[in-house]
Amino acid sequence: MHAEAMIACCARLRRRHLCGTCKSKLLSGSVDMKHNGGIRQREIDAGLFLPCCSKPLSDLVIDR
Ligand code: FES
Repeated sequence: MHAEAMIACCARLRRRHLCGTCKSKLLSGSVDMKHNGGIRQREIDAGLFLPCCSKPLSDLVIDR
């Protein structure tokens, strides 16, 4: 993720708006995601995740 996108995300979160800018598809691997919004359960069920809020638990293949 580019630093500018993360700075914009932090600004949105400070204003209590949802972000989701970094939403990506996890093609393989697993992550521990702790988010505060910006992604819906049905999107998570479809394999999407927020890299900025996730800790990789394995090697990952991601589609942005
Ligand atoms: S950059 Fe905002 S949710 Fe990830």
